[in-house]
Amino acid sequence: MIETNNYDFEENDGRVVSPEYHGIDDDNEVSLRPKSLNEYIGQEKAKSNLSVYIKAALMRKESLDHVLLYGPPGLGKTTLSGIIAKEMGVNLRVTSGPAIEKQGDLVALLTNLNEGDVLFIDEIHRLSRNVEEILYPAMEDFSVDIIIGKGPSARSIRLDVPHFTLVGATTRSGQLTAPLRDRFGVLLRLELYTPEELATIVKRSASILQIPIDDDGALEIASRSRGTPRIANRLLRRVRDIAQIEYNGEITAKVAMAALSRFEIDELGLDDFDRKMLLTIINNYGGGPVGLDTLAAAVGEESITIEDVYEPYLMQIGFLTRSARGRCVTKLAYDHLDIPYQNQQISDSPQENILF
Ligand code: ADE
Repeated sequence: MIETNNYDFEENDGRVVSPEYHGIDDDNEVSLRPKSLNEYIGQEKAKSNLSVYIKAALMRKESLDHVLLYGPPGLGKTTLSGIIAKEMGVNLRVTSGPAIEKQGDLVALLTNLNEGDVLFIDEIHRLSRNVEEILYPAMEDFSVDIIIGKGPSARSIRLDVPHFTLVGATTRSGQLTAPLRDRFGVLLRLELYTPEELATIVKRSASILQIPIDDDGALEIASRSRGTPRIANRLLRRVRDIAQIEYNGEITAKVAMAALSRFEIDELGLDDFDRKMLLTIINNYGGGPVGLDTLAAAVGEESITIEDVYEPYLMQIGFLTRSARGRCVTKLAYDHLDIPYQNQQISDSPQENILF
């Protein structure tokens, strides 16, 4: 499997429960990645659809149709693209939207592919318009149009590219332009994992890394990992350190609980920032509704990060609701934070303030 080196890893935002890549984990991350659909735990719907499409394409001796993977970060989009390449018996080329700056960069990537190869473009919604336009004929007709020369002598020539499979990944399919989205034959939505699925992943990773762990220890880590394998694997390593130095090395529920409390990750996986966000909505906006941009300014984070990274999990556990009028904290969250529930909702827009 060939992996190009222009992969643009996300910056570390410093959270132990961040679903973004932390450079330090990358080597281990790679070795923990499952290599086949059989080894891949969870995402049953995406997996079963993919398995049918792969078998059918193999039977027809064709390349797989272009695949768009979307869902919150850390759920295994890169891993799945590697599995697709492996199951199809072809090479994988990995790059990302922001790493492809010029049309020529993409033309070079495409013309250097071998027949059937998988080209994985992470954060595909961040491709520039110019570059995206090269992709349209490449995806549809396996050709690219390039302009040679300048001014009156400029001419367009069409180059063939090998039949390839584009696997695009994005946090939300709505961020893609319609012409790009429409050119994907397979759209697969990845969901947050259940604690049980994550516990199975934690046990698998522990066995690869030779970390002694019992079922309850794995479930304790899994329950605090916000539905995200990347977080579960990171927490596993941090808990291992504490188990090794302060206990007898084995991760039990007690050891996991003690370690995770020390990282200020509560029993549902919420960290300081989640609490800050919920408390800001409660204390400054009467529990909501509050508009996304107002909230982002109040907590000092970008709106897109709040939407893609923090909200999916808070919504999945029923702590936050999203409506056209803004974000609201639910009674469940008040109970979790031990704050008496007030039914008084104050919006950031004064005309919209309604006292229930
Ligand atoms: N490691 C990270 N994600 C995984 C998954 N979905 N299945 C197995 N191991 C994993």
